[in-house]
Amino acid sequence: MSKEIDLDTQPSGKRLPWFLTITGLLTIGGLIAMPFLAGEPDGDKMPDMVRFLGRFHPVILHLPIGIFSLILLQEMLGMLSREKSPRSILPIFVGAGSAVVAVVAGFMLYHGGGYEGNELAEDHLWSGLGFACAAVVTMIVRAWSLAPVASQAFYRVLLFGSVGVMGFASHGGASMTHGSDYLTAYAPDPIRKAIGLEPKQKKEDDVKAKPLEEQVVFADIVQPILNKRCVECHKEGKSKGKLRMDTFEMLVKGGKEGSAIEPGSAQDSNIVIRPELPEDDEEHMPPDGKKGMEEHELAVVKWWLDEGGDPAKKVGELKLTDEIRTAIGKLDLGIGARVVAVQKVVSDLPTDDLRATVAKLGVDFPGGLNFESQSSANLTFTGVSQRKNLTDELFTKLSPVIPKMVAVDLSATSITDTSIAKLAAATDLRMVRLSETGITDASMDTLVKLKKLESVNLYGTKVTDVGVKKLIALTNLKRLYLWQTAVTPEAIAEIKKALPAVEIVTGI
Ligand code: HEC
Repeated sequence: MSKEIDLDTQPSGKRLPWFLTITGLLTIGGLIAMPFLAGEPDGDKMPDMVRFLGRFHPVILHLPIGIFSLILLQEMLGMLSREKSPRSILPIFVGAGSAVVAVVAGFMLYHGGGYEGNELAEDHLWSGLGFACAAVVTMIVRAWSLAPVASQAFYRVLLFGSVGVMGFASHGGASMTHGSDYLTAYAPDPIRKAIGLEPKQKKEDDVKAKPLEEQVVFADIVQPILNKRCVECHKEGKSKGKLRMDTFEMLVKGGKEGSAIEPGSAQDSNIVIRPELPEDDEEHMPPDGKKGMEEHELAVVKWWLDEGGDPAKKVGELKLTDEIRTAIGKLDLGIGARVVAVQKVVSDLPTDDLRATVAKLGVDFPGGLNFESQSSANLTFTGVSQRKNLTDELFTKLSPVIPKMVAVDLSATSITDTSIAKLAAATDLRMVRLSETGITDASMDTLVKLKKLESVNLYGTKVTDVGVKKLIALTNLKRLYLWQTAVTPEAIAEIKKALPAVEIVTGI
């Protein structure tokens, strides 16, 4: 027979419930009075002891969570097997006691500063307090149900209720420290769907689809840098120096020292001044030797501010230097797809070298060499205006830019197979016009290596069946112009059979 059974039968058995009831009610009274007696939180006036003890909150809080989860589990197993719950009051006494200690420590943490005006923290404070009170009441009822005065069912209802409040309070606390999407950030799509979140994939695709020029400088580039380096201490719920850095508006609002940004002047912006201080300076950001912004990250933030610090402007609307382009390319913003997208686009952009080369070649090929689009390093070339003046010799001058060519029009020029052999370097070539030139089947050996070719114009050349049939290997081919060549209908039929999707223009 255990000791607790004795409690039931002997008159002294009511002594423990009474004791727990009185201390429990006093504790609850104290807990509820605490926020009202303490007044407005002001970290600067708090003694260090309060701050010191407050820091134990995240350590202690796991004790009541663990104990109450275990008690609940035991109770549920007991219900399933229709056994009475264990008769010891000890687990719930320790559980409720640790809940009270955790809440008091949490309250000290809150008053230790940094949570002023933070609604998440306030909500968490009240739900934590609610849980501690519920835990104490549950303990009291447990004591009486063992007496046995209160019913087991009443105790169970209270236990389930307390654990519910505990879950709510824990979630609030976790959202504060880790952000509200901490648990779901990496959830697979089926789980996201089940809890009503947007599929993750979609978001990344959107970003991927956005070329660098289209990225909003602040939202897509600067804010992710701040998120990575600064926001953990400067956000809702943890605004050090009363400064939040998680939105543009909050940067403008600033902290104790006023606005954190000075549009148009990086060197006057607090978010630049602080990180640029020497590392051993007390005001250096981030503090305590934490990893700060990398040089290229800082460079991008400064660039955005110097260019006006506008929250809506896109990369394409600001002056983009090679240096900044490279810096953006180096960014690792921890959001895989976006970085890949940026890096890819950056590598596709023409370098200043390439621009200079193209400009210089404009002398020899007036209007002939052009970028495919404003945000592309791809080149197109046309010799149409030069016609017969464009010789193999002149064509060699284009050698440095041939690898960038995607479309080449050499119709009616003087070039021969010699120049086409050089085109072998244009591995991205999609369109080539060689009509009315002196090229022969020999050039087909070059063209067949350019796997991206979609359109080949051989109108009025000396190509024959032998050469043209080689082009069957060009699986991306869509159009082939063979008008006025020696190519026979048999060969054309053969190509059509091999590549049914190709449109063959023969003029017959
Ligand atoms: C580990 C926490 C932590 C990190 C990370 C951190 N800070 Fe701070 N920050 C603080 C604290 C604490 C203060 C208040 C003390 C002070 O003003 O020096 C502060 C204050 C500031 C202030 C002054 C606000 C004001 O108006 O008084 C600025 C500006 C600032 N931080 C910028 C940054 C930037 C930019 C980063 C990212 C590179 C950053 N911080 C990262 C803890 C942090």
